[in-house]
Amino acid sequence: MSDAVEKQTIPLVEVTIDDAVVRVPEGSTLLDACRVQGVDTPTLCYLDTLTPVNVCRVCVVELEGSRTLVPSCSRKVHPGAVVHTNTPRVRHSRKLVLELLASSVDLSLASGDVKRWMTDYEVDAAKFGLSDVSHADRDSRSPGHHHVPDGMTAETVEQPVKIHDEMYVRDYSKCILCYKCVEACGEDAQNTFAIAVAGRGFDARISTEFDQRLDDSACVYCGNCIGVCPTGALMFKSEHDRRATGEWDESKQDVTRTVCPYCGVGCNLELHVQDNEIVKVMSPMDHSVTQGHLCIKGRFGWQFVQNREEP
Ligand code: SF4
Ligand code: SF4
Ligand code: FES
Repeated sequence: MSDAVEKQTIPLVEVTIDDAVVRVPEGSTLLDACRVQGVDTPTLCYLDTLTPVNVCRVCVVELEGSRTLVPSCSRKVHPGAVVHTNTPRVRHSRKLVLELLASSVDLSLASGDVKRWMTDYEVDAAKFGLSDVSHADRDSRSPGHHHVPDGMTAETVEQPVKIHDEMYVRDYSKCILCYKCVEACGEDAQNTFAIAVAGRGFDARISTEFDQRLDDSACVYCGNCIGVCPTGALMFKSEHDRRATGEWDESKQDVTRTVCPYCGVGCNLELHVQDNEIVKVMSPMDHSVTQGHLCIKGRFGWQFVQNREEP
């Protein structure tokens, strides 16, 4: 049976989202139903192309009959479900999640969506005090050994930027621990498992095995983790360097969609070009071949295009 015919036979489930009746295919999530209804639902750890990991809880909604708020990105619809997305309880919970993140993480390069939600939910990034960077070297902390907080300053995830090669840079002071990079490096795309979550509690952080340098790790430099990172924690070195010198200017960039010439798979590329140089290569999330993912050649192998002889 073709996919199209199969889709037509999936029964619809009727649910109520903020007093409006919505019909969605069986197996859909509450987030799907909210989107059908046009409700702007914040998400941080969810991406259409990845398996939901349920870690950020910013997408919570009130589901009648449920004692607790439920994560809409992973809770499946059931017939007759009644959902409220904009109650004081929902807004308070989402706001608190965003405030805890904003108080401890550098969100200056977060996506436009994240910035819009911070405004919509009136997030106070300084609510828990000024950032305390005196305990910032999280990679060297011993499990179970914590300093006593002074109650005046906010703990931070700040740590030195990791630059190990000319391809990409990891700045975990911008990491919200959404797990998307771990998913993309693992079962959802690359199956390399070069990175995972190390540590527990506030010391939890993304790391290679035993915090090895990236070029000593299992990483194959596909850059799929960069493609899914919503905060700029993972970044092309070309972008990082231009930002450091003030030369990164998205208003001067053209984005050209093309097909990767390296092999016959047919991956689509989005070439970001500034000042006649390819400064970043992404891939469209909605493309059936790539779903946003590439290999090292498609992602980084473009220097030969730019080896121009000086006149
Ligand atoms: S570049 Fe690819 S292999 Fe390396 S950590 Fe990122 S997703 Fe994993
Ligand atoms: S590095 Fe980026 S993608 Fe990975 S967990 Fe942190 S914010 Fe998410
Ligand atoms: S987006 Fe639903 S738990 Fe993160």
